[in-house]
Amino acid sequence: MSLETSTLGGAAVLLLCVYAASCAISSRRKYSGIPKANPRLPFLGNAGSLDMSRCHIVLAEWAKRFGPVFRIKIFAEEILVLSSYESVHDALVQKNAAFAGRPPMYRTSQQNRNKHSVVWQTYTPKLQFLRRETAQTLKVYGGGLDLLEQRCAPELQRMRNRIQREAKAGRSFDPFDVIYDAVCNVMLRITLDTNFEHEATIFKTIRDMNRLFNDTFSSGSATALDLLPWLCELRGHDYANRLKQALKMRDDFWEKELTALKERQCKEGVVPRMLQFIATDKGKKHDITEDTAKEVFTNLILAGTDTTSTALTCLLLLFLHYPEVQEKMRAELSDSSDKQSMPKLSGLNNMPYSQAVLLELLRYISHVPLAVPHYTMYDTSVLGIPVPKDMTVYVNLWSIHHDRLHWPEPWTFKPNRFLDSEGNIYPPTHPIRRKLLAFGAGRRVCLGEAFAKHRLFIFALFLVKHFRFLPSDEDNRANRLPPVDPRTYEMGLVLHPHRFHLKAEIIQ
Ligand code: HEM
Repeated sequence: MSLETSTLGGAAVLLLCVYAASCAISSRRKYSGIPKANPRLPFLGNAGSLDMSRCHIVLAEWAKRFGPVFRIKIFAEEILVLSSYESVHDALVQKNAAFAGRPPMYRTSQQNRNKHSVVWQTYTPKLQFLRRETAQTLKVYGGGLDLLEQRCAPELQRMRNRIQREAKAGRSFDPFDVIYDAVCNVMLRITLDTNFEHEATIFKTIRDMNRLFNDTFSSGSATALDLLPWLCELRGHDYANRLKQALKMRDDFWEKELTALKERQCKEGVVPRMLQFIATDKGKKHDITEDTAKEVFTNLILAGTDTTSTALTCLLLLFLHYPEVQEKMRAELSDSSDKQSMPKLSGLNNMPYSQAVLLELLRYISHVPLAVPHYTMYDTSVLGIPVPKDMTVYVNLWSIHHDRLHWPEPWTFKPNRFLDSEGNIYPPTHPIRRKLLAFGAGRRVCLGEAFAKHRLFIFALFLVKHFRFLPSDEDNRANRLPPVDPRTYEMGLVLHPHRFHLKAEIIQ
């Protein structure tokens, strides 16, 4: 090596060191007002001590030490963690525009998903347009109460037939797929205007795809893909492979259904409506393409199925542990004037206990524990703590929903916490109900909140009306029950209980 080359090499290393040091100093200054979680290791930051497979639980523990607003460092990235109702309300509601972004992520940049998605796109005029249009279409094709009942009716009947078969044969069964297929078919109807039989292989495909997306998009272990994408690609990381597989399955599915939809010349539903925009001025202005329709479809199918079917499965699991809850719901249902086979949404106000059960279900399981990561759009603050622009924010809904200060005995399922002394449900403005943020808050609040609450109610009441749910024979013999505590659930974007079996008894 010549003297000149080695001098140049030395200068380059020196420059790199100076650059790294100045980055470290400016980063330290940028975040200095925010308490940090300690200890941090060089290079790893907090990644060494943060068990990513249960990070919502660990972060809730850390909040007890570092306060409701603190930051963690995962490799090079500083992430803000909000863990109390007050801090989340201040950020997402009071400073809603500042916290409305989504972070740039390797995972969401694949196939430009972050340019077309409702869930993963940052806060742009296009996102606002998509949110408005999708909400409107959901209302037209599924949202109105009578319409939603009509959309659900055939699915409830199919679900009933499947459970009845098991009940008549006296068999124990795993309820997850049965519920998933029914909930998913409602979403398929609303998005693609289809009507599949439950035996169709399509549901297995969607369930498999759902599992892959759920694993690879959580704020848990799969975050490695965003932080060290080159390493994951290079080493053929399990999550990188699973993400590729999920996208491939999604694309194959989409191509097939889009062709079928065009052949049917279908005009109803979220996807046909989105496709109609493509040739319009609005569509051109917002760069609406078939990719946009594909993304919005994926968002709705996954967000609209996994959340609700998991909530219902958890409800059945809770019935095994708290049998009096299903009996009380059933009693309330038969006391109400509604004697038809399908519970009516108009009867909701006469069923305060059932409403309280569903609210407590959303609190207790908190099945989207870290919401979807937010991102700051400009310099801002939370509870007086300065927060810089371009910072990823984890909203720990799990921590808020299990905070002993607001929810005494947080690990006990107690619907009565939402009822007054006369058994009336607290109004949505009541301080206790306001602390339930299962659907997030502010500009990125769940797009399907009203739809989800109503559908959850129809499905839950229908199940209770037609069946009594009991432990499986095997569990009875072993004198045990499958675990219900959400701290045992598997981490993903949506938390899932471990699969379990139960028995159903037909209510005559
Ligand atoms: C029990 C049911 C559900 C729960 C608990 C739930 C919860 C959530 C949560 C916590 C978020 C993230 C909010 C944030 O980023 O701060 C979210 C976002 C979203 N949800 Fe839901 N959800 C449910 C059902 C649904 C349904 C049925 C749909 C569709 C019909 C839906 C569509 C969406 C969409 C599109 C977003 C992204 C909104 C955005 O980024 O602007 N969800 N949901």
